[in-house]
Amino acid sequence: MARVAIVTGGSRGIGEAISLALRDEGFTVVANYAGNDERAKAFTAATGIPTMKWDVGDHEACLAGCQQVAEQFGPVDAVVNNAGVTRDGVLHKMSFEDWNDVMRINLGGCFNMAKATFSGMRERGWGRIVNIGSINGQAGQYGQVNYAAAKSGIHGFTKALAQEGAKFGVTVNAIAPGYIDTDMVAAVPAPVLEKIVAKIPVGRLGQANEIARGVAFLCSEHAGFVTGSTMSINGGQHMY
Ligand code: CAA
Repeated sequence: MARVAIVTGGSRGIGEAISLALRDEGFTVVANYAGNDERAKAFTAATGIPTMKWDVGDHEACLAGCQQVAEQFGPVDAVVNNAGVTRDGVLHKMSFEDWNDVMRINLGGCFNMAKATFSGMRERGWGRIVNIGSINGQAGQYGQVNYAAAKSGIHGFTKALAQEGAKFGVTVNAIAPGYIDTDMVAAVPAPVLEKIVAKIPVGRLGQANEIARGVAFLCSEHAGFVTGSTMSINGGQHMY
């Protein structure tokens, strides 16, 4: 039977590419999303991949959502914590809400989804959790104390949970994307983005599929000895 994977934020951007890559690897994929119903419908129509709506920042909603996936499709073997938001702004202008939304969704989402699925993976002796961090969690970024803190937290979360999963066949890894050609990056003011791209040795933004291929490897049978690692996919912008 095909293994079941949930990709959070899986109907758009990097998440969409991950959903497709895991489907191509033979997983039964469910793409979670939080807001954009129209996009989710179009995604399912185009790909045949089902979507389910819940807020990954809501603990109870994650428990209920994952339970529903398990009932409909079978036990959850792989989770890709990709859902994330930005609320950029310098600290002196940042509201508590902007801080809290990013922590609750980006970092809290990883905890909530792991709580909902890790015990089952551990009991069955096989699991894959891939958390999407960021270059900005590794290096920091002007105007992103919230996002950098949450993404940095994801890298710590990954290394800690990897130690708990290792002897049960559950690997936990992170990918740290650089600047990828998505709506999120397109929202960075053009003159700021130009300066950032000028500092990428490869000389361009990354493509969502370049992240997705890394996720597919980490979720595969071949990656059983890879755990607690962070794969940087950033065009050489930060070598860490
Ligand atoms: N380092 C030092 N100073 C900087 C700077 C930097 N990187 N960027 C801007 N500044 C300075 C500016 O030069 C300016 O100085 P002056 O007033 O002396 O000219 C001052 O800071 C104010 O800059 P802004 O006009 O840009 O300030 P703002 O309040 O209008 O906007 C901001 C601030 C919202 C943070 C804006 O700069 C911005 O959007 N920056 C991009 C942040 C970013 O990279 N986000 C990534 C989003 S994508 C993502 O996160 C995905 C991923 O994982 C990679």
